[in-house]
Amino acid sequence: MNDPVKEFWGNIAKTEPYWSVLTNDKYKIRNIDLAEFYHTGIIQIDRLISYLKSNNLIDNINTCLDFGCGVGRTTAPLSNVCNSLDAVDLSSAMIDIAREYMIDNKIENVTFIDTSQNNFLPQRQKYDLIFSWAVLQHNPLHRAIDLLDKLCQSISSRGIAVIHINDGDLEKPSDISSSHIMQMHYIPIDQALKVIDRNRCELLEYNTNNLSSLSKKVKHESNLETNPESGYLVISRA
Ligand SMILES: C[S@@+](CC[C@H](N)C(=O)[O-])C[C@H]1O[C@@H](n2cnc3c(N)ncnc32)[C@H](O)[C@@H]1O
Repeated sequence: MNDPVKEFWGNIAKTEPYWSVLTNDKYKIRNIDLAEFYHTGIIQIDRLISYLKSNNLIDNINTCLDFGCGVGRTTAPLSNVCNSLDAVDLSSAMIDIAREYMIDNKIENVTFIDTSQNNFLPQRQKYDLIFSWAVLQHNPLHRAIDLLDKLCQSISSRGIAVIHINDGDLEKPSDISSSHIMQMHYIPIDQALKVIDRNRCELLEYNTNNLSSLSKKVKHESNLETNPESGYLVISRA
């Protein structure tokens, strides 16, 4: 079946894979400094782990999932903080680049899961840490909601999921039939909260792109103090 999201990420991975991740011209093939590009992932994951540890949200991480791993920018640093890591992407070409990077860097605890032939995560595994950055926003709402459902179901009993979403400052979501553009969508926060609730999980925090200290600002829809454009959902098992 024709799937414009898969088609887009399959194609862009063959032309401008690094730019497609961080959409800055300095990451176009003709300009890129690969070490600098991958360093952005180290900074992001360092910040994530110190946030999780300083807020006592996580202890030992056995299993980890990088959902929508792309070229492995965050996969590599995540692999250093866990025993085993599954890296999922629906673009085989992205996974090829990420796999090569892991081989070049002698990273051996990563299993790549190519979902280009099916839509979702394998349900066999639960994870102590689930991380997903800049992925759900590229999927039409109904699919993003399904993915959020599956991600919640994949959190282990002592686990945490940190999932980036856009909650909706996009004036108009993208045309879902187009495979020529990078589709951008949003998940209204009240819909995300419903998914979290029905999976008996708890939203610990939202609106924290700069993950530092747990502010506990956002617990329920009625308590929403801000209407951020994009941020991390920090979700635990209730
Ligand atoms: C903007 S890139 C971000 C990559 C990576 N998370 C990072 O921060 O470096 C988005 C990635 O998500 C993947 N993706 C988008 N929708 C997906 C889905 N439904 N399932 C799995 N991967 C998806 C794309 O193929 C692409 O590699």
